[in-house]
Amino acid sequence: MTSSAVPASPQWSSRRGFLLAALGAAVGLGNIWRFSYVAGENGGGAFVLVYLCAVLLVGWPLLIAELAIGRHARSDAVSACAAIAPRRPWCWTGWLGVAGAFAILVYYPVVAGWVAQYLWHYASGGPMLPETGTHAERFDANIADPARALSWTAIAMAATVATVAAGVQRGIERLCTVLMPLFMILLVLLAGYGLSLDGADRALAFLFAPDWSALGRPRTWLAAIGQAFFSIGLGMGVLVTYGAYAGAGVRLPQAALVIVLGDTLVSLLAGLTIFPAVFTHGLDPAGGPALAFAALPEVFAAMPAGRVIAIAFFLLLAIAALTSAVSLLEVPVALAVARMGWPRSRASTGIGALALACGIPVALGFGLLAPDPAGSPTLLDRVDHIASDLLLPASSLCVALLAGWGWRAGTARAAAGLGDSRAGTIWLSAMRAVVPLVIAIVMMRGLGWL
Ligand code: TRP
Repeated sequence: MTSSAVPASPQWSSRRGFLLAALGAAVGLGNIWRFSYVAGENGGGAFVLVYLCAVLLVGWPLLIAELAIGRHARSDAVSACAAIAPRRPWCWTGWLGVAGAFAILVYYPVVAGWVAQYLWHYASGGPMLPETGTHAERFDANIADPARALSWTAIAMAATVATVAAGVQRGIERLCTVLMPLFMILLVLLAGYGLSLDGADRALAFLFAPDWSALGRPRTWLAAIGQAFFSIGLGMGVLVTYGAYAGAGVRLPQAALVIVLGDTLVSLLAGLTIFPAVFTHGLDPAGGPALAFAALPEVFAAMPAGRVIAIAFFLLLAIAALTSAVSLLEVPVALAVARMGWPRSRASTGIGALALACGIPVALGFGLLAPDPAGSPTLLDRVDHIASDLLLPASSLCVALLAGWGWRAGTARAAAGLGDSRAGTIWLSAMRAVVPLVIAIVMMRGLGWL
């Protein structure tokens, strides 16, 4: 399958298609796997409160900026930044985003591969209890096995490549239009089930009753802001690229609000799915990244309809992972198609293969290439650190400065759909000062400079 000509910038078929695709990008492993353990480690309810502030005060305005840059320029992340602010080196903003998207794409399929592996395990009738040892030990053994780790990572990447290669409308939009509603149904059912468990009261208290002392710890704030960025999917050119495919009729501030609130709702519902089970079974809510994989299988094994719930849960995670991985691959693919004239199929396969090759050591980082001494950061931790704590805030900072200072104020406000309104003034000041300052602080803390 080769497309002979470079397609004139693709478009979503409808506003709904755009929103579902953007929600698919935003809703990812971050909402389920990352949110639950970051919240657990940072004071529960207090974290959720700070998280909500971060989403509305920083995430929402920045998302409007990314979408506006993309839709105004109607091109890939690099060309878009260069187009709106030609004479300055603003195109580096785009390159930072592309580098970040690629870095996440290197390790995201590794985790997605764990999800696929567990989904397959439960769906194919695998045992609910480990033959020997604990669930946590079984998880460690599963991800340490090189053949398994590599094959499941490759499967996750292949699904991502196949979707992106099929095109913006026929691949990405169609996938998200089918899977995102299914995702919501599964999530609501699972959260309802979670609330019916004995531990629901404690989970609600944990998620919503603020432990005010956590507000005094800078760590809570940094974790909340970092999580908000990752979860919405900011700073990696994804929403610039998706914005480029949005029609002129889409009202960006409203669309951005739907996306950030939808993403937050998913995180909270995921918390209501996971924490009741954690408390009912006396597990540690601050159990770290292994919470979803090592702790929950213990719960599934003890539940009456555990297998059905386990399949639903890992299907939920798989959908979340796939629709996000697709968004990450689309960023470099859009760039290669637009700037190098590659056919979409070749760009998707080539870039997917390159990311997979770079992901091999990451996938092996829990067994063959495990860190020495044990317990020190794995390769996955390191790549995640570079992407989430360095590239992501650096590129978000540049996006804010680009929208606030690099772009002509009138054009920026019009492109954001805010015109001369008061909201436009507030948005522009956020881009010029507040948001860059907040990001700079987060970044310096993340790098250990503060
Ligand atoms: N937002 C996704 C999640 O919550 C991951 C993701 C997709 C992402 N695209 C991104 C993260 C862009 C940062 C930047 O898991």
